[in-house]
Amino acid sequence: MKNKRREFVCQNCGSVTTRWSGRCLECNEWNTIVEGIAPQQSQSRYHPLLSQVKTITTEMSKLNGDEQESSRLITDMSDLNRVTGGGFVQGSAVLVSGPPGIGKSTLLLQIASCLSQKDRPVVYISGEESIKQIQLRAKRLNVAESNVILASETNVDNILSALTTMPPPAMVIVDSIQTLWTRSVDAAPGTVTQVRLSSQMLITLAKSGDTAVILVGHVTKDGQIAGPRIIEHMVDTVLYFEGEGTDCFRILRALKNRFGPTNEICIFEMLDNGLTEITSPSEVFLNERNRDTPGSAIFAGMEGSRPILLEVQSLVTPTSFGLPRRAVVGWDINRLAMILAVMKAYCGINTSEHDVYLNIAGGFRISEPAADLAIAASLMSSISGIALSSNSVYFGEVGLSGAVRSAHNAAQRVSEAQRLGFSRYIIPQGNFVSLKAKNSAVEGINTITNLMSLISLNQEKGFI
Ligand code: TYD
Ligand code: MG
Repeated sequence: MKNKRREFVCQNCGSVTTRWSGRCLECNEWNTIVEGIAPQQSQSRYHPLLSQVKTITTEMSKLNGDEQESSRLITDMSDLNRVTGGGFVQGSAVLVSGPPGIGKSTLLLQIASCLSQKDRPVVYISGEESIKQIQLRAKRLNVAESNVILASETNVDNILSALTTMPPPAMVIVDSIQTLWTRSVDAAPGTVTQVRLSSQMLITLAKSGDTAVILVGHVTKDGQIAGPRIIEHMVDTVLYFEGEGTDCFRILRALKNRFGPTNEICIFEMLDNGLTEITSPSEVFLNERNRDTPGSAIFAGMEGSRPILLEVQSLVTPTSFGLPRRAVVGWDINRLAMILAVMKAYCGINTSEHDVYLNIAGGFRISEPAADLAIAASLMSSISGIALSSNSVYFGEVGLSGAVRSAHNAAQRVSEAQRLGFSRYIIPQGNFVSLKAKNSAVEGINTITNLMSLISLNQEKGFI
């Protein structure tokens, strides 16, 4: 009998090698290579539907066509619509990824109920839960009366043939891609080959009509399960659901969007009856702040087109061991090291014998460099043991020269702070020039040493 050819596939990036190795040479991930059987040349690798394409000549079109903008499926959640760029585009493929238990199935069931119409249902296919479980969840979410058709299925060939027997639905939700498999390939469900081909078949379905296809993908730290990263480039939109496991806040972020912006976020709260949008996140995140504690500073940030106020907390304590510790939650640890180095070089603040802990309250993650000034203020406050004035907000990027660089959307940041009752705005000099005429309470600073002198100037008052 002829030996079957063996191949080794990386479960993270999908690269194929002829030898096993502990680390993938393409994506450098460890322990992701899994042995499988290479498909035989004579067998078609693809689904019969896809192989038909070979016989059709490719149609060439002009750039200037008379195509109309695709219509969108608009939900009743305004922030979610903003994240998707104005609603889910009909005929597009969307990947909703996130860690298990974050609330993907809950959100999608809510979306399904909202988008289903009397004459156009939404199909929800689950490979993880039984129909009974989904029905119970729908009851809990108060959406059981909507026109959502359920199926519990993992075989994509069966799913496609079931969909051809009914009028095209507005949306098809498949939860999750890790459970899908097709008879077209000889590989176990959950492997990269199965996930890629099954997803490709569903994406083809989306492109061939006006049904939006939503694929759910779990992201796990375990490399053995095929991550949805490999299909990120195949879909039109990637929405990522994140949040600290212990917190009830969940953040939905657009990581890729062919039909809208990618920097918008939507914040949800997980309640007993499902996910509810938080329309004024600044108020929620500042709700429980401790006003007169050293190390707490308020950062006026931007998330996409929306301003958001967040509390930066830091704690600087003498180290008990030889090597000082730096622990960061919600920010970049390398950027913290940079701020500490700049503070040492230009303000003479030495933390080489101190442990530094930094946290962004509420489980939020800041990626903006404009948070530098708030971080520096918070660190200075913790080191000096003096609380910052509770009515001040900070924003501005700190460079390696100690200079404070201006931030975008300064007016919006200031007006959000003003709306929430703040009365002192410590901002970069570059933004100050354009804002001083509009708001007399803004204070511009040029360098990190200015921030330091601002602090000592107010020290007699007890607050920085
Ligand atoms: P789920 O949507 O099943 O997560 P995923 O599909 O991403 O794995 O959500 C699971 C968590 O949400 C679970 O821990 C219970 C919680 N939950 C609520 O708190 N309230 C609710 O109304 C629902 C449906 C779930
Ligand atoms: Mg789920």
